[in-house]
Amino acid sequence: PLSATSTPPETSVTDKYAFAFDIDGVLIRGGRPIPEAIEAMQVLNGKNAYGIKIPYIFVTNGGGKTEQERCIQLSKQLDIEVSPGQFICGHTPMREMAAKYNTVLVVGGEGEKCRHVAEGYGFKDVVTPGDIIKDNPDTTPFRTLTKAEHENSRDRDFSKTTIDAIFVFADSRDWAGDQQIILDLLLSKGGVLGTRSETFDEGPPVFFSHNDIVWSASHDLTRLGMGALRLSLEAMYKAVTGKELNTTAFGKPQIGTFQFATRLLQQWRKDTHRIDSPPDTVYFVGDTPESDVRGTNEFNKQSENTWYSILVRTGVFQEGTKPKFTPKITVDTVLDAVMHGIERERQ
Ligand code: G3P
Ligand code: MG
Repeated sequence: PLSATSTPPETSVTDKYAFAFDIDGVLIRGGRPIPEAIEAMQVLNGKNAYGIKIPYIFVTNGGGKTEQERCIQLSKQLDIEVSPGQFICGHTPMREMAAKYNTVLVVGGEGEKCRHVAEGYGFKDVVTPGDIIKDNPDTTPFRTLTKAEHENSRDRDFSKTTIDAIFVFADSRDWAGDQQIILDLLLSKGGVLGTRSETFDEGPPVFFSHNDIVWSASHDLTRLGMGALRLSLEAMYKAVTGKELNTTAFGKPQIGTFQFATRLLQQWRKDTHRIDSPPDTVYFVGDTPESDVRGTNEFNKQSENTWYSILVRTGVFQEGTKPKFTPKITVDTVLDAVMHGIERERQ
């Protein structure tokens, strides 16, 4: 019988299949590893009855830091080495938008981190809600910048600035203030703060790094996520203008994210394992039916049946409810998911 802890005979890398992991609710909850996740990683790295190593990548909707920083953090949490070459977060594909817009408002995350992520992606001129409040503190009647925020925010005259696009990179730390600023821009004449459009159809486009309404953090019950902010913003816009607001979300379940993941995995297998052919199966392990299972299943249809969805019970999905999108299999933990894939490949 299979045992995750038996000594491997010898270690070789399989080119037949690979794994892709969601992070929150599968490997981590509220900054702490889910206990089975550490063993699951060891199994992938050769600590299994067959002595095989299985290539893997991470595809999270989370973000708020550079990919490099997130990988350092994940390496510590899971006691393995995680490289940016095997990691995608919600805002990673936004990198491809850097050349398209000149001045962008970046919303969300801790302090100045998301500004730095955006600048690292090549965005030329990145402003934050803090810069806007610093220029005109009347913008947000109930939010005053802390001393540190005031010092870190940049001086600028926003009456002379055109904001070309709005990017929500990570969860907002101040829904009221951030939504006020986004709404001001949406209602503006062509993205200039302090102006009001007569038609409400000339504001900048809004992009969210993902659309998870809830996610799995340290609380026993799910917590509101970026998708909730998106819904709230769309409802407010409608209430104020009577019009529908169209925004765009990246991340899972968008097909583009899975295409991006496929390219990343291909490169990763080539660079680290010298595998040149595509895998027959990619097992995707997630906890959120609406993002992980939905995206995997839809992408599977377009990718000649190569993506296989596994739902775990350690995060958003809770036993007793029927998942809105049906996975190939539901298991308790990420360790069970890894063992399921390995056993299925032996048959
Ligand atoms: O904000 C992060 C969250 O919505 C989902 O992260 O790793 O479960 O895709 P993940
Ligand atoms: Mg998750």
